[in-house]
Amino acid sequence: MKDVDNQKLSADAWDELNFPRPDVQDFDRVVERALSRRGFMGGVLAVGSGAAVMGTGLLKGTTALADGHAASRFAFMPIAAQTDGTIHVPDGYSWNVLARWGDPLFSDATPFDPVTGVTVESASRVFGENTDGMELFNVGGREILVVNHEYTNNDVNLPHIGDGLPGSAEDVLTLQLLQGVTVMEIVEGANGWEIVVDSPFNRRIDHNTPMQIAGPAAGHALLQTEADPTGTASLGTFNNCGSGRTPWGTYLTCEENFNGYFGATGALPTDGVVAAGYARYGINESGFDYNYHSFDARFDVSTTPHEPHRAGYIVEIDPANPESVPVKHTALGRFKHENAAYALAPDGRVIVYMGDDERGEFMYRWLSNAAYVPGGDTTTLLSDGTLSVAVFNDDMTGRWVALTPEATGMDAATIAIFTRMAASQVGATTMDRPEWIAVNPTAVEAYCCLTNNSRRGVMTDAGAVRTNAGGDPMTVNGVNPREANNYGQIVRWRPMDDNHASDAFEWDLYVMAGNPTVAADTPYAGTANINAGNLFNSPDGMQIDNSGIIWIQTDGDDSNEGEFAGMGNNQMLAGDPVTGEIVRFLTGPNGSEVTGLTWSSDRRTMFVGIQHPGAPFPDGDGSLPRSSVVAVKRDDNALVG
Ligand code: FEO
Ligand code: CA
Ligand code: CA
Repeated sequence: MKDVDNQKLSADAWDELNFPRPDVQDFDRVVERALSRRGFMGGVLAVGSGAAVMGTGLLKGTTALADGHAASRFAFMPIAAQTDGTIHVPDGYSWNVLARWGDPLFSDATPFDPVTGVTVESASRVFGENTDGMELFNVGGREILVVNHEYTNNDVNLPHIGDGLPGSAEDVLTLQLLQGVTVMEIVEGANGWEIVVDSPFNRRIDHNTPMQIAGPAAGHALLQTEADPTGTASLGTFNNCGSGRTPWGTYLTCEENFNGYFGATGALPTDGVVAAGYARYGINESGFDYNYHSFDARFDVSTTPHEPHRAGYIVEIDPANPESVPVKHTALGRFKHENAAYALAPDGRVIVYMGDDERGEFMYRWLSNAAYVPGGDTTTLLSDGTLSVAVFNDDMTGRWVALTPEATGMDAATIAIFTRMAASQVGATTMDRPEWIAVNPTAVEAYCCLTNNSRRGVMTDAGAVRTNAGGDPMTVNGVNPREANNYGQIVRWRPMDDNHASDAFEWDLYVMAGNPTVAADTPYAGTANINAGNLFNSPDGMQIDNSGIIWIQTDGDDSNEGEFAGMGNNQMLAGDPVTGEIVRFLTGPNGSEVTGLTWSSDRRTMFVGIQHPGAPFPDGDGSLPRSSVVAVKRDDNALVG
């Protein structure tokens, strides 16, 4: 996202760098564990004692893949790691660009300038910056793609300011309009997929779009501002990272690092509750260098201290109705929402699994009270129910603990606003940065990418265990078993009674990423399903297709050096949930993160997001780099998921 020593940082990494979290002085919290537990597939996950522990034998090895032969489950030959500035896919597949930052959604937009980018006048008329989560909806036979635009890069999106801060109201407005969400109709023609310019479905939702606030926090005093004394009508959705969808055809956009947009021209608020919330969520004087607060008072917390309480939610958008007002669902909690993965219980109740992507934060589950009935009333399904947080036991069991007033000592509205504090009250398990969660449509199970956590199990210079921002210790535990975890892992859980509404579950680790080439016989080699042919780090995006294949996207270190040697650029891999085999399918341009995946209605095209390319992708030398959505197809037009 930002240049630091010429290294582009993702929004997550920027937050980590700029919002250092406190360490507690509590030696008693440091414990050693000796574990032995069974994996789902009958293998024994042998775990040593001590601070750095790992599983072995959880998953079968994939020697056939190391030999370069495609596993029988996959319809392609895996590709090698790459370090160049473009995209690679297997033989028999092709890709083309569907949409780049700055491509017109409406014919009145000024054409993109390869040197100066997008004008403020056109910023809300074009495809936005830094594509992330996306979902496709078929509305009356028309293909409607909804895409998040997570953040902006000052040097890319405002080339005239160089290394400086946005320096005018116009600069700030340009950035505000380039983020949020795009709703656009797309069509497959003779030259591949393209945007239907001027479609009546086309819409940009940005940092100034009117929103309705729903759920237990709606109208609460902490959400009231001078401009909106009702506390129910906010402007804008922020840092739209991963995505989700509902069975009733709406899009869920997830507000992640919303804290970074706020700053202060004067003193930070000192009110106890507000200040405690700022500390837990990382709101300070300077934010992420967007500098909104210098030109737009709404983002200046010294004058508008409650505005940050109106961000950090799951937001529901109806792609079929361009006039609809997006709804912020406070019942699903306020935190750094990564994505939102739904499941249905056998009785029709709606489950939404969600992760809070920050070191040592938590995983959550929403469970509606009412059942979803196709064609029935859906208005309470994301506002009337129970929010729970995950506790993972080291014996490979776990449970969802309800965040109720009785359990937390907080009222329903406060739980919705300060969800992190409520979860800390019930002893939730600190996680290695929960990124995307995916529900398997072919089995009653779900997966979460725990992308990495460099501070897991690492002591401060003073000898204290590091904590999350709420003081919860990040000691190693069963589900986060490696100290200084720079590679990440994917946890899988299966609810009891094959029912996602059950509070109890069993879990295992589907994979621990690692590098057996440079770290053989250590915890950093990874699980047995990691081999020289499929090295990766920092799993992040994830979707499971209709055949049950797990598509894993990465947002990690692409230096291809040292502990990351052999991993190459960020990439997309395919995993078999049964055998554990993982193979590399796609590599992105260097500097980029591969994030966001969905399919055309006929499942003959997959749409893949390429965020913050470092090279001048895809237009080549002389052009600014342009975050893009690409369409990937088989040359024989067969199904791709
Ligand atoms: Fe925006 Fe945690 O990824
Ligand atoms: Ca992500
Ligand atoms: Ca990430």
